[in-house]
Amino acid sequence: MLKIAVLVSGSGSNLQSIIDSIEAQELKCSIEMVISDKEGVFGIERAKQKGIKTYVLDKKIYGKEISKEVLRLTENKVDLIVLAGFLSILDSELITSFKNKIINIHPSLIPSFCGPSMYGIKVHEKAIDYGVKFSGCTVHFVDEGTDTGAIICQKVVPVHPEDTAESLQKRVLVEEHKALPEVIKLISEGRVKVDGRKITII
Ligand code: GAR
Repeated sequence: MLKIAVLVSGSGSNLQSIIDSIEAQELKCSIEMVISDKEGVFGIERAKQKGIKTYVLDKKIYGKEISKEVLRLTENKVDLIVLAGFLSILDSELITSFKNKIINIHPSLIPSFCGPSMYGIKVHEKAIDYGVKFSGCTVHFVDEGTDTGAIICQKVVPVHPEDTAESLQKRVLVEEHKALPEVIKLISEGRVKVDGRKITII
């Protein structure tokens, strides 16, 4: 069975979608650990409630060493690292060790509204300000850049004239909660074929 580590920095609703999907027996994988870069986030609470092992690597204490610590905790213990709203930057040693084995969810249609310091509600504010008619979410492999890795799955939502960043965020989040478990399932079934930037679902 695919073993995963889920990394969070916030409320962990995406983590919850993975837990729910496992409990509904739609997804067969085992969450070996949940790691947060912040003390007291609800994502850690959600994991504890389910008896999942948790680690807090406070970025105020670990700084740039977070990546090394994540590598130490996950190496030879998990097959896939899932960034579910994890906001610390990972270094190349971890990315090389887990090549095509780290995925991230981003709340826009990459390559729009992504890159350094584009996260959470800011992404939706930019989408609203720009006047796009559609937005959505992207699940992609993590490479050395920020939000630049090969795209595995995107889901699209309409943007309505009366939308605020908050209402758009809510609509996109519904799709995030489908996309992330779906991609983990595809990976667990060996159905994600990588050819450079081109990903094929087989
Ligand atoms: C999600 O919307 C996720 O896409 C976003 O943070 C939120 C975390 O929510 N990630 C990024 O913006 C990364 N660039 P959650 O803690 O409720 O899952």
